[in-house]
Amino acid sequence: MSAGPGIFHEPLAHVDQWDDFVAGRYREGRESKDFRNYDREANPSIAEFYRQNHAHQSLAFVLEKEREYGSLQRGRRSIWEAAEYLNTLVDESDPDTDLSQIEHLLQTSEAIRADGHPRWFVLTGFIHDLGKVLCLYGEPQWAVVGDTFPVGCAWSDAVIFHEYFAANPDARVTEYQTLNGIYEPHCGLDRVHMSWGHDEYIYRVTKNHLPEPAQYMLRYHSFYAAHRHGAYRHLMSAHDEEMFDWVRKFNPYDLYSKGASRPSLKELRPWYEDLIAEFFPEPIDW
Ligand SMILES: [Fe+2]
Ligand SMILES: [Fe+2]
Repeated sequence: MSAGPGIFHEPLAHVDQWDDFVAGRYREGRESKDFRNYDREANPSIAEFYRQNHAHQSLAFVLEKEREYGSLQRGRRSIWEAAEYLNTLVDESDPDTDLSQIEHLLQTSEAIRADGHPRWFVLTGFIHDLGKVLCLYGEPQWAVVGDTFPVGCAWSDAVIFHEYFAANPDARVTEYQTLNGIYEPHCGLDRVHMSWGHDEYIYRVTKNHLPEPAQYMLRYHSFYAAHRHGAYRHLMSAHDEEMFDWVRKFNPYDLYSKGASRPSLKELRPWYEDLIAEFFPEPIDW
């Protein structure tokens, strides 16, 4: 079944509403047990979003999307062109006050730059959400954003709104409901199919151009159950464990850079054009 545009009621005013929700969830000083206490009444549109996500992200759906997008047939674009394309995704309910997509990317990357991290790390901050162009291809919100999780094995209760998985068709496949499911213990995350979304897509588009820590940051930045809650270690290799230090290093820049002052696109653009040219000398396939 293909999930085209318009088939699903889109519960969020904008996909960034999910990002804001996650930032609030991990607000500093918040007890980690609190994250289990979200309910439909307090966050109705967020809850509806997760209900759809958990009901539809099955192994079959993920395999279909990996096939559909894995061969990168959506045209050639430079990184900057992709950022401008993503910028056409506006929050219709709130067009003035919301940060543009490029501004969120620049706030993230500028915070990384200000801390003196290497150029590839800054670039990773700038591109990390470009996979949200999936929205512009007509994918429903639940197939673009949301906490990601492995499919084809039991869902950890560290995944928020875990109870909604009961409606997923995989709940009725015994083989997928054991701890390791279709995988070998500690097989490494590269062998594990993750729920489909903007993380996996931007990883696939850019992987040949960036160092491995950057690939991990892009691919697993929404895998909160693992990088925040320590779940799914039974599927991770020793190498994954090492690389997740980088995923954890990246996460605060994604979550907490939004309050920073508005970056000046005009001033920053030449510096970023140089940075992009260093790693992506040519347009790439999307
Ligand atoms: Fe993201
Ligand atoms: Fe982000």
